Amino acid sequence: MPEETRPPGFSRRSFIKTVGVSATVSTLSGIAEAHAAAREKEQADALEGPGPIAVAFTVNGKSAEVRVEPSVTLAEVLRLNLGLTGTKIICDRGSCGGCSVIVNGKLVNACMTLAFDVQGATITTVEGISQGGKLDAVQESFLRHDALQCGYCTPGFIVATRVLLNDVPKPTLDQIKKALGGNICRCGTYTNIFNAALEASGQAPIMDQKGV
Ligand code: FES
Ligand code: FES
Repeated sequence: MPEETRPPGFSRRSFIKTVGVSATVSTLSGIAEAHAAAREKEQADALEGPGPIAVAFTVNGKSAEVRVEPSVTLAEVLRLNLGLTGTKIICDRGSCGGCSVIVNGKLVNACMTLAFDVQGATITTVEGISQGGKLDAVQESFLRHDALQCGYCTPGFIVATRVLLNDVPKPTLDQIKKALGGNICRCGTYTNIFNAALEASGQAPIMDQKGV
């Protein structure tokens, strides 16, 4: 560009500098975009579904593997895929405890747990509480204290009581009430359930306790 046609302050050096900076900026933004695209692809590759995916875990001491859509709950898998119908789906929204199961030693509402999330876990349902055809002490005690009417809530109460006694072998009545607070019995058999929990832990039932 002839000197006389250049805008004031414009020189060959400033032109080259400007072009160089723009090229660098555009190269950097190209690299950033490539990185973002690669990251998105990685995330997309890591995602599974929406079609069926394989989920493997151990239930009641046996290996199980199912192929289910990611939206399927553990409660549905236990009942519909594995035929373990002791786990009840009552409210299907985490408020009644009817679907209580033990996952890696912890009490869990199976209706609020995706099957996808128990990949590799160790699960015990009410069917796995008894061992070798012999009822667990909690089950015996529920029977002895007539701790059920319709029985629909009973598997959940038994599982929740078993988890409590695993953690606290001799719980107080208050601890029992608190631990079973997530389980609802519409038939109102609470007193008998508390008696059963007390006796299963080797303690006198409420009616035999002074000051209760
Ligand atoms: S059915 Fe799961 S909490 Fe009620
Ligand atoms: S025994 Fe009927 S809901 Fe508990």
